[in-house]
Amino acid sequence: MGVYEVKSLEQYFKVYKRSVREPRKFWSKIAEDFVWYKKWDKVLEYRLEEAEVKWFVNGKLNITKNCIDRHLAKRGDKTAIIFEPNDPDEEAEHITYNDLYNRVCKMANVLRDQGIRKGDRVCIYLPMIPELAVTVLACARIGAIHSVVFAGFSESALAARIQDCECKMVVTSDGGFRGNKTIDLKGIVDGALETCPSIDKVLVVKRTNADIPMKEGRDEWLAPLYEKASTESIAEVMDAEDPLFILYTSGSTGKPKGMLHTTAGYMIYTAYTFKNVFQYEEKDVYWCTADIGWITGHSYILYGPLANGATTVMFEGVPSYPDFGRFWEVVDKHKVTQFYTAPTAIRALAKESTDWVTKYDLSSLKVLGSVGEPINEEAWHWYNDHVGNKKCPIVDTWWQTETGGLMISPIAYATPTKPTYATLPLPGVQPVLMDEKRNEIEGNQVVGSLCIKFPWPSMARTIWGDHRRYKETYFSAFPGKYFTGDGALRDEVGYYRITGRVDDVVIVSGHNLGTAPIEDAINEHPAVAESAIVGFPHDIKGNALYGFIILKETGETRNRENLTREINQYISEHIGPIAKLDKIQFVSGLPKTRSGKIMRRILRKIASKDTANLGDTSTLLNPEVVEDIIENAV
Ligand code: WTA
Repeated sequence: MGVYEVKSLEQYFKVYKRSVREPRKFWSKIAEDFVWYKKWDKVLEYRLEEAEVKWFVNGKLNITKNCIDRHLAKRGDKTAIIFEPNDPDEEAEHITYNDLYNRVCKMANVLRDQGIRKGDRVCIYLPMIPELAVTVLACARIGAIHSVVFAGFSESALAARIQDCECKMVVTSDGGFRGNKTIDLKGIVDGALETCPSIDKVLVVKRTNADIPMKEGRDEWLAPLYEKASTESIAEVMDAEDPLFILYTSGSTGKPKGMLHTTAGYMIYTAYTFKNVFQYEEKDVYWCTADIGWITGHSYILYGPLANGATTVMFEGVPSYPDFGRFWEVVDKHKVTQFYTAPTAIRALAKESTDWVTKYDLSSLKVLGSVGEPINEEAWHWYNDHVGNKKCPIVDTWWQTETGGLMISPIAYATPTKPTYATLPLPGVQPVLMDEKRNEIEGNQVVGSLCIKFPWPSMARTIWGDHRRYKETYFSAFPGKYFTGDGALRDEVGYYRITGRVDDVVIVSGHNLGTAPIEDAINEHPAVAESAIVGFPHDIKGNALYGFIILKETGETRNRENLTREINQYISEHIGPIAKLDKIQFVSGLPKTRSGKIMRRILRKIASKDTANLGDTSTLLNPEVVEDIIENAV
């Protein structure tokens, strides 16, 4: 991917200009560097008003040919994946490109033998072990659509995701290790499958050796099938726009949205941005600490790095196990050159002694990355001073599940960084800030709603089974433009700073949580009449959740402590422990407009203890409840 490489700010401006002036030529030049069965007839077709986009029309390819096969001649013995287990005493595994080829082909054959065909959906519910990477790639090899569900999601969250896209198979494990905990993944799958009639087969990977029940006719251990599978598997011919995967993200309303990504555009964009933003070079060892259950793991642990023939680290554990030095121990051990993590992890580690960092040799590091939420100034400096030793540029990468790849980010060693700023749009990305009247805001030193006004190759194509919702959520607030749901400011030199969500999504420890699904879960509690959830600032998590809850008459007499515990239990079961509330306040009423809409703006202020100026409350139907809520705020 030598073409359009960016090594300096000057080059960035040149490349950027070209990408905007002639986007078709720009992306087709980059696409030439990949392996195709057949090249495209047309680079781009789109109608953003209808939320319709096609890239590399009629091109034929297979992404695993590009991520694995084409590297074998030159890099067969190079390590593709370093697997670092949860337990530091368990040996790390170095999987070469040759090994990866064999493993993916074997797994592809297992899937085919079990009846999986092109277009079928396979749910992957696995911990961060090599089989997760292998299964994802095996699906891609045979054209099955993978739907990875983060192994921290609860039974009902898993069930909802399986039902929504009608998966035929689940690939899971007997359990998973995370820090000093063991998680019973198979038990969660068994529970979920009680309401998932589309599932014919469950393949089970052995990881913890837990004694688990296997359902006759449905469940199979992977190992015996895998052992006898052949190491050759022909890669399916995929159309550029054939679906590659579905990944669920929570919306501000209703059920999770199954974002659908397709093949060619996604591959080209993640590969190009990986190479440039992280300045990856042949001998580098790159480590992204995300879980493959999130988009960051899809695009920047697997597809982007592997398309570049990179060495990518896959870490099973957590930053605090066995102690707060774990990240730095792993960097030292594998001589990591690019390190990519989330602000929430940085903030948690910055609370601990810097001895945990200085104990290790971090001199291999060249680039640091941040993703998932705005990084605050303090965390940025700690990361820069103690981890990067003031020598490593920090790439603060802004993007989303929906965008597939990095959108606004410094390019390491080219873009001068500025704390808390994601800086400049990457080549091919055309951001605009919009005002409330839906006009584009020109010039600098302005704030607005962040939109993208021209298609880029890795954008999601639809929400699985619900194109109308896709169009309404992303393309109707500002017709003809993609609306990100984020607010941003543009400073005097044109640098972007993301200020946070402008909708009812709260980012807790880097995880998107729609408030509506949490409210739905709480409202199922028999003692609860109504609830409203908002976010408030939190030292480590970035944001935490505050619940305002109205009880039914029958609930009024109940012990509040028990109720609080039960409500969080409901949330854990319906969504996952990550969505538990940090604070709960039982209230007699919620501030509502005359049309009955909860005024969340006011609740947000109360939760943040910022009640000096509540703004305009004249449209409230019941202003008296506000005083009461403020007085009893927790
Ligand atoms: C937020 C994660 C500020 C943002 C890749 C976005 C960020 C949402 C940043 C997407 C950043 C992500 N600075 N905010 N560098 N990166 N966000 O879908 O609100 O899990 O809309 O994708 O995270 O989260 P998602």
